[in-house]
Amino acid sequence: TDETQPRHFLDVDDLTEEELFTVLDRATEYKRAVEAGEDHADLPGQTLGMLFQKASTRTRISFETGMTQLGGHAIFLGQDDIQLGRGEPLKDTSRALSRYVDVVMARVFKHENVEVLAEYADVPVVNGLTDDAHPCQTLADLLTIREQEGGFDEVSVAWIGDGNNVAQSFTIGAALTDLDLTVATPEGYELDDAVLERARDLGGDPTTTHDPVEAATDADVIYTDVWISMGQEDERDVRMDDFEGFQISSELLEHADDASVMHCLPAHRGEEITDEVIESDRSIVFDQAENRLHAQKALLSWLLE
Ligand code: CP
Ligand code: NVA
Repeated sequence: TDETQPRHFLDVDDLTEEELFTVLDRATEYKRAVEAGEDHADLPGQTLGMLFQKASTRTRISFETGMTQLGGHAIFLGQDDIQLGRGEPLKDTSRALSRYVDVVMARVFKHENVEVLAEYADVPVVNGLTDDAHPCQTLADLLTIREQEGGFDEVSVAWIGDGNNVAQSFTIGAALTDLDLTVATPEGYELDDAVLERARDLGGDPTTTHDPVEAATDADVIYTDVWISMGQEDERDVRMDDFEGFQISSELLEHADDASVMHCLPAHRGEEITDEVIESDRSIVFDQAENRLHAQKALLSWLLE
C-alpha cells in the first residue's frame, strides 16, 4: 500500500482480520471508558464531515456523539444543504472537504460514489451505508455477538431476509471472524455472487438457502433487516409477496430455542419481524444500536492514528 494514501473503510474487508480485531478490542475499551466515566478524548480538535444522501437516525447520532466524546467535532452535510445537491461534482466535493476535515463519513446510494469520494479524498473515507454495503453496522454487530456469545468460535448465525447491504457486509465480517453463517433469502434476493466469492477468499463458508426454517434451526443468533431498503419504495407490493414466510416470529423461533434476535433498525413490525419478538427478551437490537457508537469511535481513532 502507498503510505501517502489514507486508509479508507468502504467495506469490512478494507481491514485485515488482525486490524478488525484491533478495532473491536478498542471498541470494547471505549465502551468500558464510557461506562466508567473516564476521559478518552483521543481526537482533540479533529473534525468529521458527514455527508448524507439518505435518511439516518443511528448513523448520524452515533458518529456525531462519538466525535464529541473523543474531543473532536462532526459536521452534518445533507446533500441538499451543500452544493452537491445543485450539481457540484462529487470529486470536487471530496477534494474541497479534504482541505477542511480530518475524516469523511458518507451515506450514499451508489456504492461507486463512496469509491469516488475515496479516490479524490486526502483523508480517510468511511462508508456510512451504500446500496451494497453497511460496514459500520457490521462492526457493531460483531461487537454485539462477541459480547452476547463470549466469542465467535462455534457461533452460528442465521441471516433471514433480504440479501441487502447489511447482509452483504455482515457476510464479509462473518468470514473474517469465522462465524458459522447461513443466509436465507427468497429467490431473486440472494447476496451478490461477488460478495460470496470475497467471503470464500477470506476463508468463510457461508451456507445459502431459500428456506428460513432451515436457517433458523438451532441458530445462536437470528438476524434480519427491512424487506424494503431506502430507494426501493416502488417495489413494496412485489417485495411484500416475495418475502412471505421470512418474518421473524415466535413460530420461527421455535426452531431455535436459545437464539438471540438482531436487527440493525429501523424495524418494520408486522413485516420482517413481529412486535412480540422485537419486544421480547430474545431481542438485542438496542445493544446493537448502542454498539454503533463504541465501534465507530474505535474505527475513527484507529483510522486517524
Ligand atoms: N442501522 C442504521 O444504520 O440506522 P440509521 O439508518 O438510523 O442510521
Ligand atoms: N437495508 C436498510 C438499512 C438501513 C439502516 C436500507 O438500506 O435502507
